[in-house]
Amino acid sequence: MSPHATDPDTSTSYSNYTSAISERLPHTDAQVPAHRLREFELKGGVFVVTGGAQGLGLTLAEALVEAGGIVYCLDIQKEPTAPFYETQGRVAKQFGGSLSYRHVDVQNAELVDEVIASIAAEHSRLDGLVAAAGIQNVKPALEFTPNDIDRMMGVNFKGVFHSAVSCAKQMIKYKTPGSMVLIGSMSGLNANKGLNSSIYNSSKAAVIQLGRNLAMEWCKAVETSEGKKPIRVNVLCPGNIMTPMVENDFKNDPSLRKTWEEANMLGRISEMKEYRGAVLFMLSDASSFMTASHLVIDGGYTAW
Ligand SMILES: NC(=O)c1ccc[n+]([C@@H]2O[C@H](COP(=O)([O-])OP(=O)(O)OC[C@H]3O[C@@H](n4cnc5c(N)ncnc54)[C@H](O)[C@@H]3O)[C@@H](O)[C@H]2O)c1
Repeated sequence: MSPHATDPDTSTSYSNYTSAISERLPHTDAQVPAHRLREFELKGGVFVVTGGAQGLGLTLAEALVEAGGIVYCLDIQKEPTAPFYETQGRVAKQFGGSLSYRHVDVQNAELVDEVIASIAAEHSRLDGLVAAAGIQNVKPALEFTPNDIDRMMGVNFKGVFHSAVSCAKQMIKYKTPGSMVLIGSMSGLNANKGLNSSIYNSSKAAVIQLGRNLAMEWCKAVETSEGKKPIRVNVLCPGNIMTPMVENDFKNDPSLRKTWEEANMLGRISEMKEYRGAVLFMLSDASSFMTASHLVIDGGYTAW
């Protein structure tokens, strides 16, 4: 029925219908609201990004600052990298948020706890985590030593666990319900063509499972004046991304690039910036009904 028609029985329902339609139409200039897509806003929120010295972590940290976040990158590298300083210079003044650095090995549970507690204390809140610190070790399973396994699981699994637990403690303490994005990988769901990485892939499968369990434990963890609120936990599973980690893989085996490019439906390696929208969605109220889930962004690699 046309929204312009008149209905003798329910004359008021048409105005409701018309306004519902107009909400979905593009705004004219005069109608543009003060805030577009407010549910993606992170203004004033405090966020921790592990592995934020470079690569995917740093790119995602930049996106959070652009959305108004106060962002702390935690990384094992003693000093901030040149890309970190470049990013800091680019975003700090422009967007109102801020980007800071803390030297932390995520395997050191006590230190992680201490640093995250001091960040939360400074702002009396903590709103989110991106757990991106990770390592790769490409080696046939027959050559993996027990130490290799401990190191990989120590960073990729235990490090994610410590980071998430330390953040949850502060969210509970300061009564700030929040959201966590654990960086998993499509490698947690498949075996990558041409890549001997049994332990890496297992560590990422563990992260995907960890996300589900933490989400369940913390679904009503934060006591607020409006009742119990969740700490949402989700896992982002990227496909192949051009980062320093992958540049290193290609240096060790130049044939890998072609193998991986041909292994997904889009026929290319992704860029770090292609995950900015996902992390903003997952950390903001735009994903308020999403928890215990994993989001796969892999150009179709795992679907065929
Ligand atoms: N590059 C890819 O194709 C790809 C795909 C899927 C998932 N991932 C995941 O994305 C995340 C980021 O990887 P990237 O490709 O940007 O790699 P990267 O090596 O460029 O960055 C990883 C960062 O983690 C830091 N780090 C390593 N060990 C640490 C520790 N013990 N404590 C604190 N920081 C530590 C490193 O210093 C580095 O800054 C990792 O979890 C990785 O497994 C990468």
